Amino acid sequence: MKLGQTLIDAATLDAGVARIAAEIDRDQAGRPALLVGILKGSIFFLCDLAKKLETTPVSLDFLQVSSYGSGTKSSGNVRLQRDLSTDVAGRDVIIVEDIVDTGRTLTKIIELLGTRHPKSVKICALLKKKIAGNEGIPVDYLGFTIDDHFVVGYGLDYAEMYRNLPFIGILEPEPEAGNEGREAANAKRETAESRR
Ligand code: IMP
Ligand code: MG
Repeated sequence: MKLGQTLIDAATLDAGVARIAAEIDRDQAGRPALLVGILKGSIFFLCDLAKKLETTPVSLDFLQVSSYGSGTKSSGNVRLQRDLSTDVAGRDVIIVEDIVDTGRTLTKIIELLGTRHPKSVKICALLKKKIAGNEGIPVDYLGFTIDDHFVVGYGLDYAEMYRNLPFIGILEPEPEAGNEGREAANAKRETAESRR
């Protein structure tokens, strides 16, 4: 796999994050919020978002789940790897996620936090893929809708690489690679198949 075209440049990301911060400030109207970042993909987004909040008193906590393993194919199996250290009871919780693909990860997390009696739970996602089946996932604050590409950068990884890119880029199969190129093409096909 290799880095292809830039999908969302740094300035566009920054403007999107600023817009979301303003929406959260407006909705919270001065009430405190607990931002729950989903590790590791959301960290760059969460940090930039938190810095742009002007009127919302903010606390931070983190959850880690694994769903993807090291490929580009969602396993569909979401495991909790690290729990919160904060009691969410009675709090306005905003879950901060990097990307909504099938929505399985968020569905699990909403289900988990729902059992802990938060005052409210809202979803904030930087990206949402335009794919069949995830329309019903409730995203209260959304940065950008994207077509069905595998993307990296600004926190998003491929096998733990590329998270530190300051923009979102498309990961593409190597043009004339041997096995690796075929594996990438297979991964894309398998991702599509796994959603059915
Ligand atoms: P979902 O459970 O299928 O919605 O997948 C969500 C998780 O899969 C995200 O939190 C990401 O960690 C990962 N993911 C989904 N699509 C991509 C992508 O295009 N690039 C990198 N990670 C992705
Ligand atoms: Mg990930």
